[in-house]
Amino acid sequence: MQKRILTGDRPTGPLHLGHYVGSLKNRVRLQHDYDTYVLVADVQALTDNFEHPEKLEANIMEVALDYLAVGIDPEKSKIVVQSMVPELTELTIYFMNLVTVATLERNPTVKEEIKQRNFVKGVPVGFWSYPISQAADITIFKADLVPVGEDQLPMIEQAREIARRFNRLYRKVLIEPRAMLGEMARLPGTDGGAKMSKSLGNCIYLSDTADAVRKRVMSMFTDPTRIHPTDPGHVEGNPVFTYHDAFNPDKAEVEDLKDRYRKGTVGDVEVKERLYRALENFLAPIRERRVALGSNRARVREIVMEGTRKGRALAQATMEEVRDAMHLSYRFE
Ligand code: TRP
Repeated sequence: MQKRILTGDRPTGPLHLGHYVGSLKNRVRLQHDYDTYVLVADVQALTDNFEHPEKLEANIMEVALDYLAVGIDPEKSKIVVQSMVPELTELTIYFMNLVTVATLERNPTVKEEIKQRNFVKGVPVGFWSYPISQAADITIFKADLVPVGEDQLPMIEQAREIARRFNRLYRKVLIEPRAMLGEMARLPGTDGGAKMSKSLGNCIYLSDTADAVRKRVMSMFTDPTRIHPTDPGHVEGNPVFTYHDAFNPDKAEVEDLKDRYRKGTVGDVEVKERLYRALENFLAPIRERRVALGSNRARVREIVMEGTRKGRALAQATMEEVRDAMHLSYRFE
């Protein structure tokens, strides 16, 4: 039987280059060989945005447009809306018994996010426990492989632990998933920060106009120790070169630029101009497809509904097995 992929994104707005490098690229590549489900995780997005549920519907559309524009093929991949698979909620509740408070408190990604979010009224239980719901996302689809960015590794580990526990305690129903990182596990922000993140305002979006991309690239952080273009510069840890490595297919050009940068014979402006050109070559066709799809939203909705229908059928089948294994298939007639 074909192996299965499940992965997903919170619909908090359009997707950016970090999403592409970390996970989208792998999904597009692997969808031909794996039975692929891509989850638009609106329930998870609510966990830190429950005050603004009115934005979710539009954001789900944005994410679906990004998926299709980068090459997620609806003939191969199923796009599934999380809240339209209520079985996920049920499985999450059963999973809550299999995880301790101490384990949740150790999750490094959630810890980091809590720091960034600065929840004024304290951390909502829903947010703090979202790794449990994410374990349900992954296991209800019986995924073998989860292509994700580096920050998601603790979630996959949590899902593995829960699956193992469930199988040992009740019966072997669930699959222990494996994570798959992109070639470049994490793309730095345009400000040189550790990662591209909407809340940090250091992103280039897949849907950005050429003009917006140009502005972002030309104002990118480079080598802080280099003052004049004739100073020898640092290539390692310089985000402009990290982006060249990720998006410029002309490896000879990249090597030449690196070489001259180290010697101090090329300025930041030229390196950035060439990066802009490489990014535009990559982004222009995505942007075009996105615009074309954007004018046929009825078709996009159809694709999402069809994907969700298939995803839900699979989730329902797993839940039959789960309830059975847990002796919850009562026969009170
Ligand atoms: N936590 C992921 C993110 O922040 C989104 C997500 C939800 C996910 N459920 C998932 C990713 C299941 C992989 C598998 O982007």
